[in-house]
Amino acid sequence: MSTVVETDVLIVGSGPAGASAALALSTYGVPNIVVTRYASLADTPRAHITNQRTMEVLRDLGVEQDVVAQATPQHLMGNTTFCTSLAGEELGRVRSWGNDPLVQAAHELASPTRMCDMPQHLMEPVLVNAAVARGTRLRFETEYLSHSQDADGVTATVRDRLRGDTYEIRAKYLIGADGGRSKVAADAGLPMGGQMGVAGSINIVFEADLTRYTAHRPSTLYWVLAPGATVGGIGAGLVRCVRPWTEWLIVWGYDVTAGAPDLTTEYAEGIVRGLIGDDRIPVTVKSSSAWTVNEMYAERYSDGRVFCAGDAVHRHPPSNGLGSNTSIQDAYNLAWKLRLVLDGTAHPRLLDSYSAERAPIGRQIVTRANQSIRETAPVFEALDGLSPQTPEQLWANIAARKDTGEAAEKQRAALREAIAFKVYEFNAHGVDLNQRYPAESSAAIVPDGTPDPGFARDPELHHQPSSRPGARLPHAWITSGTRTLSTLDTVGRGRFTLLTGIGGEGWVRAAESQELEIATVVIGPGQEYEDPYGDWARLSEISEAGALLVRPDGFVAFRHASTAPDAGELLADALRRILGHV
Ligand code: FDA
Repeated sequence: MSTVVETDVLIVGSGPAGASAALALSTYGVPNIVVTRYASLADTPRAHITNQRTMEVLRDLGVEQDVVAQATPQHLMGNTTFCTSLAGEELGRVRSWGNDPLVQAAHELASPTRMCDMPQHLMEPVLVNAAVARGTRLRFETEYLSHSQDADGVTATVRDRLRGDTYEIRAKYLIGADGGRSKVAADAGLPMGGQMGVAGSINIVFEADLTRYTAHRPSTLYWVLAPGATVGGIGAGLVRCVRPWTEWLIVWGYDVTAGAPDLTTEYAEGIVRGLIGDDRIPVTVKSSSAWTVNEMYAERYSDGRVFCAGDAVHRHPPSNGLGSNTSIQDAYNLAWKLRLVLDGTAHPRLLDSYSAERAPIGRQIVTRANQSIRETAPVFEALDGLSPQTPEQLWANIAARKDTGEAAEKQRAALREAIAFKVYEFNAHGVDLNQRYPAESSAAIVPDGTPDPGFARDPELHHQPSSRPGARLPHAWITSGTRTLSTLDTVGRGRFTLLTGIGGEGWVRAAESQELEIATVVIGPGQEYEDPYGDWARLSEISEAGALLVRPDGFVAFRHASTAPDAGELLADALRRILGHV
């Protein structure tokens, strides 16, 4: 007879989505179990770019410094280089990941956190260890097989791969964070758009001391334009730094219609040697694996009591580094909602806002990542390297850019322009930080009647803060006594927070009179928090006596521009809507 284990939330998968869901739920005190198919966490580097929004999430969950301690810092990430091989000719660079001085300033103004490079095999243990320390029960070698749901919960059947037997886990909710081949999403019948298997790619993990070719132009990514580099893959050959400057991962394409090549060590070494371009360097291949570029997203992220997150619902190439970032952000959006529904504070209707808010983001990032692959073609075009040709012709075209004369000058200009355009992949600050949840689609956001401010500059490249409901709370440095902290540090920790200023006493009383615990933050001279630089006054978009109600995930849920005699009622009405009671 099979055993039945009970919990509040069952999470399938211990990747970035599942691990961060577990971490957030355990931080909020929600009992949860994680089952994961394999005997270990990720054993290869996989996703690595960790953007500011994710670092803010990790800061709230108390693991930011654990990540910073192990990650490659931002200043070593930023010289994305295009070359014929690491030892070969350099074709150009893009200042990336916030390392362009202007973008660097924008990064500093936007967030208390810094972007970093945290390979997935290092990130997962940070998330999982913290989750387990806070109460998550984790079962390795346990495979999700199926689920059924009824009015009160979900029953999942799992297989213990060590013993070979199956048992049931009864949970109130199920999170499918089981990656790009998600069985949970398939079993839940989530409608998917787009296409799987657009192109073929190979990852090769290897060790080699490449200091002499990389330390003078420190970067996370070195792109290699060489014969065969346009076949499949992610736009060109890629040498990615895992640990400066001795651990690496190469991404190389294959023709998906011909099937994956036989990944022998000799085959992998041949690719590695070609991309390094210096046979004197000792190389140790650690592993290689084939995968496909996908362009697929779920139109809906949930079915009843089943919610999917991460690659289960958005499947895309690594371009722009959005994989684990979006997965962690999905989980963070979902966890506080589950907590409030489980403890009876919110109506289950609140959970509908998960799909309403996150599915459009998923679709956007899938499209962006695939678009970034296509935007590498002009780099080859500038070298006349897209038309079928022999390797000798490609090398001759590349060499031609060094000639005198009008044609060569034109070629150099086209190459510069095509490489510079890659900022949409390597410096897209807006893609990282401009996520907004419109009140028209999410019931967990209360419209304040103001028009959508849109974006004054390219929304993919430039971050534009806003305190309009549905936007992430703008970051400003404020002080409390001798302490300097971010406005974002005053929110989170699983609670709603009301921010106001001098004259906002009515809002503070209103917050204190609600049944739901709401933290209050008063910013102004002589208050607990002060705004010595005047940054908050510039960014808050409300008068000092106005109020912002911020959700546990740092998004503004309700805004009132000034003082209000009926603040208590306004806030109560807003909370009823946000918590799904109307
Ligand atoms: P993820 O795939 O990380 O995790 C899924 C989890 O579910 C795993 O723990 C797995 O064991 C578990 N699972 C699956 N089926 C299960 C079942 N039936 N029962 C129990 N558990 C089950 N991204 C990037 O930006 N740069 C890169 O270079 C790479 N490279 C890369 C290489 C390889 C080999 C892979 C597989 C993926 C990448 N990625 C990547 C993508 C990146 O890793 C991905 O976007 C994130 O890991 C997504 O996180 P998730 O948690 O959603 O899924």
